[in-house]
Amino acid sequence: MEAKRIVLIMGGGIAAYKCLDLIRRLRERGVDVRVVMTRAAQQFVTPLSVSALSNDRVFTDLFDLDDEREIGHIRLSRLCDLIVVAPATADLIAKAANGHADDLASAVLLASDKQILMAPAMNPKMWLNPATQRNVRQLEADGISFIGPAVGEMAESGEAGPGRLVEPAELLAAIEARLHPSSSGSLAGRHVLITSGPTHEPIDPVRYIANRSSGKQGHAIAAAAIAAGARVTLVSGPVTLGAPAGATTVQVQTAEEMLNAVRAALPADVAIFCAAVADWRAASPADEKIKKTGDGEKPQLELVENPDILKTIAHMKTGRPNLIVGFAAETENVIAFATRKRRNKGADWTVANDVSTHTGVMGGDRNRVHLITETGVDSWPEMSKREVAETLIARISALLHDKARRV
Ligand code: PMT
Repeated sequence: MEAKRIVLIMGGGIAAYKCLDLIRRLRERGVDVRVVMTRAAQQFVTPLSVSALSNDRVFTDLFDLDDEREIGHIRLSRLCDLIVVAPATADLIAKAANGHADDLASAVLLASDKQILMAPAMNPKMWLNPATQRNVRQLEADGISFIGPAVGEMAESGEAGPGRLVEPAELLAAIEARLHPSSSGSLAGRHVLITSGPTHEPIDPVRYIANRSSGKQGHAIAAAAIAAGARVTLVSGPVTLGAPAGATTVQVQTAEEMLNAVRAALPADVAIFCAAVADWRAASPADEKIKKTGDGEKPQLELVENPDILKTIAHMKTGRPNLIVGFAAETENVIAFATRKRRNKGADWTVANDVSTHTGVMGGDRNRVHLITETGVDSWPEMSKREVAETLIARISALLHDKARRV
């Protein structure tokens, strides 16, 4: 197998010593490790010991002329398969979330087009501070994934709570799942197709029919499926989120384009339809901007129904994905309407959510869903969209493994 390379960005924290073990284990597995240390990290572990273990020089300074001449921070950020930040301190997270580039570590993160995995470690109050949580949500929305922090007692203060760096073995497993996506993880070897975001249906060159979907839920499902080792195709309507690292992302605008992209991405083992597809489109979008006439005359907008992507795929005679999961966005009688939708559209499962304005689900960071299957309804407590995604992917993995055992 082709040798893999990671760039490990070490932040300053007492947990930095765990990186020495991590580097050793990665090298034992044939992974090249190139290390960037922040100034603070060098207070906890010496570059000399890191260099000895990684068998490479350690990069510390953005303005080191020798380093820049030899490799340069742009190439450093690109010549790898994955960037791992451990320990990801509150400061490094804040810098990355806000696009700072005033030291080598933050410049590498900003210049990178690779997958980034962050393993936070900090005092629990710092982790739970709304500013840090806001930054983490921003980075997740930008496609960066997180592992941990673990819950426990802090070495320096004795305070307990979420903030410990995950153990090297756990971090190693997360790294391997990203380096070899189809050889490890509960969905290894599976192709998962996900739709996400809204569709935009043109009325004229400047106006369109749309809805409030942000893509946060669908993109979180894609990230969770990637973390579980799946090969993921994400068909996304227009959103401002970054594509999750590791997914093949197809950007579309309209429902018809989304259907074509979904068809083109088949075959898939699992298809999850989370997109908020516009049910109607303008029958004949105008080629030029529709003008106000000045005499109070209103334009007549004739609508036609869009293809139902979920229903089309669920009723395929051949090549139907083994598991089809639809979503149902309702504002009343949520479970009853979603149960009917599951049957009418031919989905195996439906994830129902209440999208009434007061819930803040559309566009927000949290969701409360009901999983409706042939055998009944499972109502989950309110969670972050990331947790909904991870729970859903865990349920899908369990079903597929169960089926495989019975064959
Ligand atoms: O994007 P976020 O801001 O994170 O918000 C998440 C969400 C609320 C959009 C998401 O959780 C959700 O509910 N997605 C489904 C939205 C929707 O269109 O629901 P629906 O009840 O109208 O459609 C039912 C199902 O049919 C959905 O799986 C939908 O993708 C699918 N559909 C609908 C119409 C159509 N023409 N083609 C389809 O495939």
